[in-house]
Amino acid sequence: MNGKISEKIRYVGVNDLADQLFENQWYIPTGISYNSYLVTGDKIALTDTAAADFNEQFISNIKREIGDRRVDYLVINHMEPDHSALISSVRKLYPDITIVTNARAVPMLKGFNNVCDNIQVIKENDRLSLGGLTLEFHMIPMVHWPETMATYCIEEKTVFSGDAFGSYGAVNDKITDDSETFRLFRDDLIRYYSNIVGKYGKPVNSALEKLSCLDIKRICPTHGPVWEKNIPEIVSLYQKMSKYETDRGVCLVYGSMYGNTEKAAMALAGELEKLDIPCAVHDLCTENPSFALRDVFKYDILAAGGPTYNNDIFPPVRNFIYSVCSRLVKNHKFVSFGSYSWGGGSVRLMNEMAAAHGMELISDGIQFSQAYSKEKCDMKALAGLIANC
Ligand code: FEO
Repeated sequence: MNGKISEKIRYVGVNDLADQLFENQWYIPTGISYNSYLVTGDKIALTDTAAADFNEQFISNIKREIGDRRVDYLVINHMEPDHSALISSVRKLYPDITIVTNARAVPMLKGFNNVCDNIQVIKENDRLSLGGLTLEFHMIPMVHWPETMATYCIEEKTVFSGDAFGSYGAVNDKITDDSETFRLFRDDLIRYYSNIVGKYGKPVNSALEKLSCLDIKRICPTHGPVWEKNIPEIVSLYQKMSKYETDRGVCLVYGSMYGNTEKAAMALAGELEKLDIPCAVHDLCTENPSFALRDVFKYDILAAGGPTYNNDIFPPVRNFIYSVCSRLVKNHKFVSFGSYSWGGGSVRLMNEMAAAHGMELISDGIQFSQAYSKEKCDMKALAGLIANC
């Protein structure tokens, strides 16, 4: 692979195609990249590192780009171990290297990496000259951890943005985007955002405002493609997601033990289709929740089908609604349905959860006893309420 992004900026990241689950929970069928970059002035800075399994390849990538030249600075934008695991390895290779980061990262450097020395602590707007190139530092806390910062190379008009603007999906040899890249990665950008950063809409919005003051011609995130040609599109998408703005449509999730709630879900999906209302259906018992969360961030209505289980909500559905609520999702409407065998209660409990977290209930929901039938479940009427809300 050729890591040349520009004469002065080189890619030294790695693709992870072995892990099935990012953060040991989010399914990544097309892998993920851990991006790291060299900024090569008279002195050389490395931004972030990579995950623990990639030590040999990561070091080899650095050598490929700069040979025997020395890396002078290691800029730590984010301490999550998918980017910080190889700090000690880099220090071993370059014993005189200075770590450049902010005060909030310092205890994490000790806690995760047992690193306490050769640290240059910078703060908002501080600059670091590399000789011919200048790095400027901007704090973007909670995008995605409190210590997160972005590093801007003034002469290259390039921002190293951490997880912001990142995506699932391994990158190919040409890491910089082309006219098709945004379309190809859009779903994985939304999925990554909703899974990883989705709770932090307000801090993301503040970060976008801060970065909008910079003259940016290139965005180098820690995951996914480097953005040059699609910057208005990706910034616009982030602005929308950070405000929890969505398109008209339904994310229809369900869990079903014996197929009755599933039949109700399919009936609702069929009625929505007749009304030309976009609807994405997810079986929470067989599918990783990553994809349904993505569609919560795409569509303005969440429809949840869950039977009553131990006088509670069927756990896969309860867990999913909880994960939506914990992301502080706003501007959403909610409907629920589900079967029960004797006492019922899941529909009421789902409604209470959603309403307590600010979702607007479109109806009281539909709960039905034992087997599904059209007569017990008027999904046509429910779809009509959705169409008119
Ligand atoms: Fe890719 Fe929050 O680390």
